[in-house]
Amino acid sequence: MPSSETPLFSDEPTEPAYVTVAKVGDIPEGEGRAFAVGKRMVAVFLSQGKYFAIDDFCPHQGASLAEGYVENCAVACPWHHWRFSIEDGSWLDNPKISIDTFRVRVMNGNIQIQEPVEASPKPDQDG
Ligand code: FES
Repeated sequence: MPSSETPLFSDEPTEPAYVTVAKVGDIPEGEGRAFAVGKRMVAVFLSQGKYFAIDDFCPHQGASLAEGYVENCAVACPWHHWRFSIEDGSWLDNPKISIDTFRVRVMNGNIQIQEPVEASPKPDQDG
């Protein structure tokens, strides 16, 4: 019997794979750690017993958000204190702007992140 990740038809899109980045216990409560997942750096946080994963790259000047201060479901960038939701990636001072979030799960004691899907190149608009 095919697994839930096996497509019935060969041209059916498959879900991106999950990648193990750490073991449960490697990230202390209220802290974050950065991991390479595919071509991205992903900040993984443990807050109130739940794991969250967002882009590690602060859009202001590029600090590692994994090194920021976590309070409830927000992280403050360690350089200039822009605050982002670790739940949905929104910049809390201007929620119209947000950074990427990633699916995270725990399987057999491993913290896993779903591989980011890279956007396909945009078609050439000049013809
Ligand atoms: S680099 Fe993050 S707030 Fe400036």
